[in-house]
Amino acid sequence: MKYYLWSIGCQMNDADSARAAEALEQMGFVRVEDPGKADVLLLNTCVVRQSAEDKVRGHLASLKAVKRRRPDAFLAVMGCFVNDAQILHQQYPYVDLFLRPSDVEGFVKAVRERLALGDRWVRPPLPAPVSVYVPIVYGCDHFCTYCIVRLRRGKQRSRPPEEIIAEVEDLVKRGAREVTLLGQNVDSYGRDLPTKPDLADLLEALHPIKGLWRIRFLTSHPADMSQKLIETVASLPKVCEHLEIPVQSGDDAILKRMVRGYTVAQYKELVKRIREAIPGVSLATDVIVGFPGETEEQFMNTYRLLEEIRFDVVHVAAYSPRPGTAASRLKDDVPPEEKKRRLRLIEELQERISSEINAGLLGEEVEILVEGRRKGRWFGRTRTNKLVFFEDPGNWQGQMVIVKVEEAGPWSLRGRFIRKLSMEEAP
Ligand code: SAM
Ligand code: SF4
Ligand code: F3S
Repeated sequence: MKYYLWSIGCQMNDADSARAAEALEQMGFVRVEDPGKADVLLLNTCVVRQSAEDKVRGHLASLKAVKRRRPDAFLAVMGCFVNDAQILHQQYPYVDLFLRPSDVEGFVKAVRERLALGDRWVRPPLPAPVSVYVPIVYGCDHFCTYCIVRLRRGKQRSRPPEEIIAEVEDLVKRGAREVTLLGQNVDSYGRDLPTKPDLADLLEALHPIKGLWRIRFLTSHPADMSQKLIETVASLPKVCEHLEIPVQSGDDAILKRMVRGYTVAQYKELVKRIREAIPGVSLATDVIVGFPGETEEQFMNTYRLLEEIRFDVVHVAAYSPRPGTAASRLKDDVPPEEKKRRLRLIEELQERISSEINAGLLGEEVEILVEGRRKGRWFGRTRTNKLVFFEDPGNWQGQMVIVKVEEAGPWSLRGRFIRKLSMEEAP
């Protein structure tokens, strides 16, 4: 039996797709790249911007012919594209099943029913990748006016800590060494649970797990990141010095219209506290350019903020009006060419800053958790989430090694293998 998987979107979708793939492989399915050869097809979708939605619709259209040729193949569509399944069924009658975002359970159940597999697992649990995503909170309770995510993923639902701990323990038994806890807003984890645990408590609870070497989490929200969390990150050795805190704009009036819940001054103060508490911390952020009404001066405020803070990574996007969001009622008045220009300016600025920051690592010995091989080279990440490649004849899969940085570009580093971390040094 063969399956085809197509997935776009954020890390939450990556995590859901990986889980769906793992479940299928446990049932004995083998992945194929040609949808025409698959018995089960899963599309995991994103609609964060119009361009993502266009890709989804384009891909779905291309599968019509596949289904015509093989009507018995099972085609499921999951993710943020799925809003009103009834309407979608009318638009795409050849799709067998529409599933809400993250409904991997529903997908697996449907495949089992279809194959009359019942609860039977065909194979024992598979080995886990070295680095895995673990969703800890679904949905989001914020009301950012540009954002469709909260409309598609619903209100915040945190998973109970016991369930997360058990899952991480199981992943580590199967070979995982690093977990990245996921949520649209991980900083408000637990608020909806009866005992109100928070992310800091969860980090403390996961920390003692033997064989787990590194813990990360994303995405943070500037208005929800507590001092307790910052101090916990600083104090727990397994929690890596890397935070993803979307700022979205460097202009107070725009932030207000985005309903982000903080000012530029508050954001800067947060960054200051983080940098004081966590030396060497690397910071990533998201920025939207061309939000309705954004003037040149307001855009420049964002530009100058990025120059001042000097993030390690900036994900920049051109504003795209999304149906049903509050901002979609505002006039999308920054012309596409102008949005592109602003986007390019930020990209150029950030390329320079990232290059400069990474050049600072030249000659340094960094600790890498080796995730695998790409184009004949080993690769892994530093604690600060920098991608590092190195060549070596040894087998370093899943090992913690020391690499000396010899080349540094804006997106990745290249180094020379020095040694494996000794037992005493290993976490
Ligand atoms: N929850 C996270 C947050 O608070 O930023 C991530 C939300 S979304 C999955 C990822 C990024 O997409 C956002 O940070 C934002 O920069 C961008 N984005 C969201 N809606 C957008 C829109 N309508 N147009 C352009 N970019 C958008
Ligand atoms: Fe969307 Fe804002 Fe929630 Fe992020 S925090 S998912 S941008 S509503
Ligand atoms: Fe896309 Fe949904 Fe993620 S819209 S970015 S897949 S939360």
